Amino acid sequence: MMKESNSQVENVSSLGDNGSSYHVPVLFSEVIEGLDIKSNGIYVDCTFGGGGHSRGILEKLGKEGKLIAFDQDADAANNLPKDDRIKFIPQNFRYLQRFLKLYKIGKVDGLLADLGVSSHQFDEGERGFSIRFDGPLDMRMDQREGLIASDVINTYSESKLHLLFEQFGEVSNSKTLAKHIVEARKHSQVQTILQFKAMISPVVKGNPNKYLAQVFQALRIEVNGEMEVLKEMLLQLNDVIKEGGRVAIITFHSLEDRLAKQFFKNGGFEEEENDNPFVQNVKEQKWRLINKKPITATDAELKINKRSRSAKLRVVERT
Ligand SMILES: C[S@@+](CC[C@H](N)C(=O)[O-])C[C@H]1O[C@@H](n2cnc3c(N)ncnc32)[C@H](O)[C@@H]1O
Repeated sequence: MMKESNSQVENVSSLGDNGSSYHVPVLFSEVIEGLDIKSNGIYVDCTFGGGGHSRGILEKLGKEGKLIAFDQDADAANNLPKDDRIKFIPQNFRYLQRFLKLYKIGKVDGLLADLGVSSHQFDEGERGFSIRFDGPLDMRMDQREGLIASDVINTYSESKLHLLFEQFGEVSNSKTLAKHIVEARKHSQVQTILQFKAMISPVVKGNPNKYLAQVFQALRIEVNGEMEVLKEMLLQLNDVIKEGGRVAIITFHSLEDRLAKQFFKNGGFEEEENDNPFVQNVKEQKWRLINKKPITATDAELKINKRSRSAKLRVVERT
């Protein structure tokens, strides 16, 4: 269960804040400073998006430096700068090591992952991420993938729906919602955002925009397997990052943040085992925390970019 109210639910109160821009990077200077970029180093941006952070990295890199940028959304490629030092990989970052090997890159000096979705993805009604528009209930970041959000609604079991609304959306009446969906879909299945909103309207609780945004977030995390791919990527870092290399991870909800925190602390995703004196549990520490507590947005950033509200940045160094 997510405890804190800390999530990348759609920020309905700030519609239009960023106008037509693709995405305004969050915690920009904190990321660039945290990565401590070496002029001739090789860096990875796992989540290129609008390319804001990537541009910051390129500015710090010298002529010999390299940036490998992943994004699984084909739209992101439109934001690529004309720069020979960048190599764009239109794939999921879960294949990090595979592509580094393919391009004959051994280890790298640093890596950034700014997780979740971009403003652009929210702003395109056709993509199905936003509660503000009508369109197919889709929510795939990678449109080559098969599962879309309406499949989740139309086919998942009641218990699976309950769990995902509870875990990924902190939806207060997730059990009631799951039961309602399973009942309602016997009469008609949903294909579009408006149909889905109409279907669940009888069980919406509290502020409708907030409620729907939480439900949509849960579906998005499920459709894109966000927890699984994050785990897969983190597990590759031990082998991919050079000694002294830095990793910066920006998370937008507490489940993601907990995965990153646990991984850098104990190399896995379990809470630390209890202090049983008979169990010897000496683990090799592979990561040094650069910031003990996650870095959050300053008041100045919060004022100009509401999306930064739930961002948490963790920076670590490979020992
Ligand atoms: C929050 S935005 C990143 C914004 C970027 N840092 C910038 O400055 O514009 C997240 C981006 O990462 C992409 N993304 C999310 N998960 C991904 C994954 N598992 N593999 C590849 N790309 C992913 C999304 O498609 C989206 O474009």
